[in-house]
Amino acid sequence: KRKVIIDCDPGIDDSLALLLALNSPELEVLGITVCSGNVPAKLGAKNALKTLQICSSLHIPVYVGEEYPLKRELVTAQDTHGDDGLGENFYEDVNEAKFYEGGVDFIIDTLNNNDNVSIIALGPLTNIAKALMKDKKAFNNLDEFVSMGGAFRIHGNCSPVAEFNYWVDPHGADYVYKNLPKKIHMVGLDVTRKIVLTPNIIEFINRLDKDMSKYITEITRFYIDFHWDQEKIIGCVINDPLAVAYFIDRNICKGFESFVEVVEDGIAMGQSIVDSFNFYKKENNAIVLTDVDKNKFMSMFLKRMFNGYDD
Ligand code: BDR
Ligand code: CA
Repeated sequence: KRKVIIDCDPGIDDSLALLLALNSPELEVLGITVCSGNVPAKLGAKNALKTLQICSSLHIPVYVGEEYPLKRELVTAQDTHGDDGLGENFYEDVNEAKFYEGGVDFIIDTLNNNDNVSIIALGPLTNIAKALMKDKKAFNNLDEFVSMGGAFRIHGNCSPVAEFNYWVDPHGADYVYKNLPKKIHMVGLDVTRKIVLTPNIIEFINRLDKDMSKYITEITRFYIDFHWDQEKIIGCVINDPLAVAYFIDRNICKGFESFVEVVEDGIAMGQSIVDSFNFYKKENNAIVLTDVDKNKFMSMFLKRMFNGYDD
């Protein structure tokens, strides 16, 4: 099993990513850390607990980390994910289950006390940047780092050029690209925009009739309405589960190595600059994913989540 920390901001698609990870036998999820992004961090941590409850995984600890981006004011995405971050279903808090404080220290301690821990980051990179600032050496033990974020040849989703996670905390994102001792697997909008959970897939999920079917249907309804209102897309783009799927199976996305930096302010704030022509002559710090096998993803997603389904 591969040991992982999932750093996230749940969030509807973060929750789907957690469900996928927790139903994947290849992964041992050591803990979930949360920062502010889609919703303020403490609300995100509660949402992580709700998702853990759905798949009977409340033994996995949830830690709240940074509540604000490094320098910018916090801008959440509650228009996209709902006021509660889970599509305005306003589920009751999970009985007894509590999240812990100290997400940044959890990341550092886990790296220091284990070999070969990987991090899958599904939100702004604030927790990771803070952990790097506090104990860079701990990251020498890091195995792999996957970040859902950025955009290479595709329009942004927060500005013409910026993707949400890097736009919320551009300073955090840039710090991580400049300081992480490992190459970052950048699972950006180029690949995630191709992953759409359509109403017919949701209908299929309902026919499989598991507890998870109800949860997935409920949390995605608001998100589907948002996609229709904003972009006339039928269904919803689910970004974060692709990062988990790619971590498990490298054949799901393909890309190339490059130097990447993130624009910290100004009109292009949050843009991931991918030097694919090597103009800057800098050492590659990223693997930028550009192609995705969406059928492979969807079949993995459905098989993992719903035992008994086989394509
Ligand atoms: C990213 O932004 C968030 O709204 C999603 O959870 C995802 O991590 C996509 O840009
Ligand atoms: Ca997210």
